[in-house]
Amino acid sequence: NSMLLWQRTAFHFQPQKNWMNDPNGPTYYRGWYHLFYQYNPASAVWGNITWGHAVSLDLVHWFYLPIAMVPDHWYDANGVWTGSATILPDGRLAMLYTGSTAELVQVQNLAFPADQDDPLLLTWVKSESNPVLVPPPGIAPKDFRDPTTAWYVPSESAWRIAIGSKNDSQRHAGIALVYRTSDFLSYELLPGVLHSVAGTGMWECVDFYPVSTESATGLDTSAATGPGVKHVLKASMDDDRNDYYAIGTYEAATNAWVPDDPEKDVGIGLRYDYGMFYASKTFYDPVKQRRVLWGWIGETDSERTDLRKGWASLQTIPRTVLFDQQTGSNLLQWPVDDVETLRSGSQEFSNISIPAGSVVPLDCSTSGGAAGRGVLGPFGLLVLADDDLSEQTAVYFYFVRSTDGSISTHFCHDELRHACHPALLAADIVKRVYGSLVPVLDGETLSVDHSVIESFAQGGRTCITSRVYPTSATYGGGRLFLFNNATGVDVTAKSLKIWQMGSAFIRPFSEHDSVS
Ligand code: FRU
Repeated sequence: NSMLLWQRTAFHFQPQKNWMNDPNGPTYYRGWYHLFYQYNPASAVWGNITWGHAVSLDLVHWFYLPIAMVPDHWYDANGVWTGSATILPDGRLAMLYTGSTAELVQVQNLAFPADQDDPLLLTWVKSESNPVLVPPPGIAPKDFRDPTTAWYVPSESAWRIAIGSKNDSQRHAGIALVYRTSDFLSYELLPGVLHSVAGTGMWECVDFYPVSTESATGLDTSAATGPGVKHVLKASMDDDRNDYYAIGTYEAATNAWVPDDPEKDVGIGLRYDYGMFYASKTFYDPVKQRRVLWGWIGETDSERTDLRKGWASLQTIPRTVLFDQQTGSNLLQWPVDDVETLRSGSQEFSNISIPAGSVVPLDCSTSGGAAGRGVLGPFGLLVLADDDLSEQTAVYFYFVRSTDGSISTHFCHDELRHACHPALLAADIVKRVYGSLVPVLDGETLSVDHSVIESFAQGGRTCITSRVYPTSATYGGGRLFLFNNATGVDVTAKSLKIWQMGSAFIRPFSEHDSVS
């Protein structure tokens, strides 16, 4: 059993026990970062959904707080589902969330802090007007969920929110509906939709926010539109369980968002992450003027194993999101710099040559895919590897020369050998090779935390997250290797820096944790 305990993470957020899914209502409020999350207090599988709650002063160390909201009204009897926070101009906070009713109808509800002066936001009051929204005509009762953070439209002195849905009469289109409200109690459905993409099915957890095309700072959700600003529309595709985003232009007057590149539209183009990552949500952090992204990392083992270990799921390390000014066509994601406070004991390597077909151990003890051989790769790192490499996860690149002579670079995770223990091999862990194209090679970072690997290639143009279940490559046994499985080229790692990561505390809040 201790084997299963080992896999808890040291700096990725997870509840003390039981099931977690989507991040909810992330926000910064009076000195504290708040994270709420879909939480089953009773078991390590989905069900019984409440809002778990934790706070942090730095997005790295977390305090668990009591559950914020439970199903206690007819309008959320079947679950307090996903929602978002909006900070109002006077500093108060409005929380909108989806309730699944006793009859399994999806409705939107309003909640607010019982005491707006409590920075910990411990107690929540549900509005007497709930539900504030029910599925409109033409929308099925189970296709109406996950309200966004509201954005303010000054010309109307009103707010708008988006809600994901689908339209089966229009070629199984995923859609985002937009509502206008001035008081968060009564709402008007705007004509048309914010956007719709045929064939993509139900859009869960829609996120909609501005990005600056000119500066490396984040924008508040209500930032003015105009030159130098584009809008990101993201939806979580219930059909394929991935988070897709697209960059485009938003016009409040027509209630329309138009993607820059229709070929890369929502659900058919770019993904935040090419691994295990879903139901993400951003918020604007006024302290560091950045937009921060949270994503849910599910398990790839079986429900049976989750029940045995008593917990399931992690959240990603929060990521800063910026428009990529170099390409002009994608976002850049990077772990929040606060995480660097956990770094210690760094080691630097330069100009390590990795001859074709070799594996080079890096002398540092750290807490079909890559094994294939082509002329130009794969090459990269073996992480969470044991000494004899029976257990390993490869994070690697390979080049493909197409018939016209051009070369493309692929960036991948190979989970096929991440666990070698027979008991786990039998436990039907899903292992796969994740990959995506990246433009050029430079500036990769990798975060390895016992049972999760998050990789950021090209300064964050392409990201991949994997859940892994090492059995011998744990703690002192986890080693790092460079490998080059190319048959035709020697590779030189020009520079490589490795940090040991300290543990972040993630523990219950106590009297001594005074508010500064
Ligand atoms: C996404 C999701 C949301 C829903 C919540 C329920 O993972 O299905 O659409 O609100 O989870 O837990």
